[in-house]
Amino acid sequence: MSSCSTCASKSGCSKDIKCDFIKPKYGRIRHVVGVISGKGGVGKSSVTGILAVQLRKLGYRVGVLDGDMTGPSIPRFFGINEERTGYAPTDVKDVFKFIPVETSLGIKTISMNFMIEEEEPLLWRGPVLGNALTQLFQDTDWGNLDYLLIDMPPGTGDIALTIMQQFPVDYLVVVSTPQDMVSMIVKKVVNMAEKLEVPIKGVVQNMSYIRCGSCGEKMNVFSRNTAESQAEKMGLPLLAELPIDPDFASYLEEGMAERYAATNKDYDILMEAFRNDENEIAKRVAEAKKKSIPFLDS
Ligand SMILES: Nc1ncnc2c1ncn2[C@@H]1O[C@H](COP(=O)(O)OP(=O)(O)OP(=O)(O)O)[C@@H](O)[C@H]1O
Ligand SMILES: [Mg+2]
Repeated sequence: MSSCSTCASKSGCSKDIKCDFIKPKYGRIRHVVGVISGKGGVGKSSVTGILAVQLRKLGYRVGVLDGDMTGPSIPRFFGINEERTGYAPTDVKDVFKFIPVETSLGIKTISMNFMIEEEEPLLWRGPVLGNALTQLFQDTDWGNLDYLLIDMPPGTGDIALTIMQQFPVDYLVVVSTPQDMVSMIVKKVVNMAEKLEVPIKGVVQNMSYIRCGSCGEKMNVFSRNTAESQAEKMGLPLLAELPIDPDFASYLEEGMAERYAATNKDYDILMEAFRNDENEIAKRVAEAKKKSIPFLDS
């Protein structure tokens, strides 16, 4: 999580807590995870969707916040891009909360794209987008969630900064392709997280290999360097390698990717990487000797 050393108000603040992270008003979220990449088009939204499904398979209550405000990738992954956000009254007169759209597996999802038409461009500048995302996070009725995954925009721009500084992010998951790892485009994001003291759990290498249609053998297509050695160079644990899969792309187009992600065995590797996640978080928090942080569910 970000800390006092990186806070803009540190000189005028006397609080005995690490930072005032924003909290959701209508729900309890135990862990917030940001999914980020060095550049666009590497499969960040796809991996966010697959990870949400795998965490669900582990029995967790999962939500997804679509932080990439300008594209409908998350609604499309779950095949819910025709859905619209509901609104419900709150205890305060004339104040409403958002009702997330639930996927077939019960993943609670919120996206700007549930509020606008898909072809409609969002002609908003960075700070306005940041405020809108904050509102989606705070004003959605999440209920009780174990994990909220945020599909972040690629790179180190305004919204990524807002999320890393102001959202109570437990850690980031970096998504990369082999070429992206070789060229170290990812390194900027890694450095940004380091500066803001946001932990990174590791890297998911997407489009890492292709499976031979006849014998099932895994073939590396982009680089002879192993994903492990590339991850090591970046100083990050390798969480999983996912294949280039033309079937996945077709299911995505048909809005059936959620079911495919739940049943294709190639994605179980991601479930295994997260099986012990809560213990790792607890260990990290204990090691950081945090004095007192404003837990989301307090
Ligand atoms: N493992 C894969 N196998 C085949 N196609 C894939 C795979 N991962 C992603 N794709 C395809 O690549 C395209 C980009 O994926 P995705 O939208 O998840 O990337 P992104 O990093 O979120 O992109 P953006 O930066 O635009 O948000 C999609 O059309 C998707 O179908
Ligand atoms: Mg995306």
